[in-house]
This record gives sequence, structure tokens and C-alpha cells, in this order.
Amino acid sequence: MSSGPTTISVLDGAAAASELRIAQTLALLHDGLGAGYITREALLRFVAPAVTPSAPDEREPFQRALVATDDATDEVVAALLVEVVAAGAFRASFLGSYALIRADPAIQRLERAPAGFIKSIVVAPAGRGRGVARSLIAAGMQALADHGAQGYYSLAWVNQRAGCQLCGVLAALGFRSARRIERFWYQDSVGRGYQCPACAGPCECAVEVMLR
Ligand SMILES: CC(C)(COP(=O)(O)OP(=O)(O)OC[C@H]1O[C@@H](n2cnc3c(N)ncnc32)[C@H](O)[C@@H]1OP(=O)(O)O)[C@@H](O)C(=O)NCCC(=O)NCCS
Repeated sequence: MSSGPTTISVLDGAAAASELRIAQTLALLHDGLGAGYITREALLRFVAPAVTPSAPDEREPFQRALVATDDATDEVVAALLVEVVAAGAFRASFLGSYALIRADPAIQRLERAPAGFIKSIVVAPAGRGRGVARSLIAAGMQALADHGAQGYYSLAWVNQRAGCQLCGVLAALGFRSARRIERFWYQDSVGRGYQCPACAGPCECAVEVMLR
């Protein structure tokens, strides 16, 4: 990749190059977060519909993938998944650890109104440190607000080797850390059989619960 300027767009099933873009996005997510953590089937739920509906898109929940493509090569160099989460799904997104944070007033506020979930993000290694994640997340937050989100949260990966790479980006966007939860994905990674790239097996990493 050239790691030059990039353009942000919604991953769109109607776009001419959509199959290639979906494949590149999946490869990026697999490299960054572990093969099988985001399956192709799961990613397709975040792809905007190929046919523009006559009425506004009323699919529930609102889920979108945003990508940054390299202007020189048109390759996907970063991807972000976002979702507007209602109360039941909000609890489920904490993968069994909800009891550890439910007393936090900010968590209760987020649970009462539709919450914007900054779900997964990867920037290709050659393009990091140039503000791509920050721009992508800002665009994702705007899309979430346009679809009713009244607050935001993210479950930021504290990589056993590299620490929390996402935490600084989110802090720069006004998020604060609510608490750290150890071995957050362990049961999920055993149950669904994905490998953590940092642990080379079931995931022993922690999460930093980030709120705004
Ligand atoms: C996390 C990740 C997406 C960040 O992408 P990025 O494009 O390099 O981040 P940005 O360049 O947009 O950073 C924006 C701001 O965040 C801050 N920041 C970024 N990385 C940071 C770090 N490691 N420590 C502290 N602050 C950091 C900086 O303040 C930066 O602001 P600046 O432009 O004024 O310097 C990228 O490192 C990545 O893909 N990591 C592997 C996958 C991963 O951990 N994903 C999160 C899973 S939940």
C-alpha cells in the first residue's frame, strides 16, 4: 500500500467494487483482530443494502461498516464497524461482564437511550499514526448520531503485547475510561473458537470500557 491520502466511505453492497472491498475488509479485520473474530456472515450484516429501499432503511439494529481506501491504489486500508444498540443488546455486548459495570451511572444512562457502539476498528500497520482511526471514528459517530444514538461506548482491546492502542484515539475524541475488565474475551474465544493474535490461542487480554 502507498500509505498516502485516504477517502472514507460506507461499505456498500451496491458499489461496483463491493465484493473486492468486502474481501479486503474481512482480510484486514482478520489480520488485526484474529481470524474468525468477525466472520464474513457477521460483516455482511454491517454492509449497507445493495438496493436502495423506496422507504428509508428500517433494518434494526442500525449497523454499518465504514472503510478508508487508499486514494492511489483504491485498497481498503482501515475499517470500522458501528452499531446503534438497544437495552437488551447493550447488556449482551459485555459478554457476561455486565454485572461488573452496571452500577456506573454513565452505563445506566447509556442503557436507557439508544447507544452508539464503536465495535471494531483496524488500521493497516503501514497507515497508523496519521489520524486515520480518528477520522473514521468521527465519521462513525456522526452516522450513529444520525440514527438516534445519544451516547457512545467502546470495548477497547488491551493487547497483551501492545497495550490499548485504541484508548488514546478514543480519549482524543472525548471518551473516558470507566473500568478495565481482565480476560474479557476468554470464554467467547473458547466458545466460538477464534484465536487472539496477541495470545496465539484463546484470548487472555483485558478490555478498557470507554464511554462518551
Ligand atoms: C488502534 C488503531 C485503530 C489506531 O489507528 P491510528 O490510525 O494509528 O490512530 P490515529 O492516528 O487516528 O490516532 C488518533 C489519536 O489517538 C492518539 N493515539 C493513537 N495511538 C495512540 C497510542 N498508542 N497511545 C496513545 N495515544 C494514541 C493520538 O493522540 C492521535 O492523535 P494525534 O493525531 O493528535 O497524534 C490502530 O493502532 C490499530 O489498528 N491497532 C490494532 C487493532 C486494534 O487494536 N483495534 C482496536 C480493537 S478494539
